[in-house]
Amino acid sequence: MNKRTRIYACLTSLAVGIGLTGAAMAQVKPEDSIKLRKAAFALIGYNFSSLGAMSQDRKPYNKDEAIRNAEAVAALARMPLEHFGAGTDKGDTKAKPEVWSQMDKFRGLMGKMNEETAKLAQVARNGDLAALKVQFGETGKSCKACHDDYRAK
Ligand code: HEC
Repeated sequence: MNKRTRIYACLTSLAVGIGLTGAAMAQVKPEDSIKLRKAAFALIGYNFSSLGAMSQDRKPYNKDEAIRNAEAVAALARMPLEHFGAGTDKGDTKAKPEVWSQMDKFRGLMGKMNEETAKLAQVARNGDLAALKVQFGETGKSCKACHDDYRAK
């Protein structure tokens, strides 16, 4: 078993051990999905603003921290989409109804963010602050493009 397979096997037995079977894991309650997507976005926001502070010279640039922040953003950016499923349009949420009536467009904007955040992690690993500033700006545009139309103020 390679490392990844071992970790997966370990997580699977842990999930079974605490009573989370595959079916139960897939059936997240709508209110829990809303919490999970907001938690993912909150962590994206936290890590992204640290990069923003470094990009705008409000905080000293630190390569290792920038890599950690950017890799977290890239990984977390893949998580919210699955939590916009049926029944998650009502409740404690700022997502607008257009998310569901224009799901193809919404998915496309998520995809664009995933591309930009993957590039952001790549650029952070290269350790070039000037390039990081540029890619921070591009990534920020991909956040705004969605928030403008799909997130209530
Ligand atoms: C495809 C659409 C989309 C993209 C892209 C997107 N967001 Fe969001 N974001 C949303 C929606 C919708 C909400 C509201 C979620 C809710 O309340 O259920 C949200 C909420 C948030 C929140 C508030 C979370 C909370 O505590 O409730 C933050 C912070 C955030 N986004 C940051 C970002 C950042 C930073 C990026 C870019 C790296 C980004 N988002 C990209 C749609 C998007």
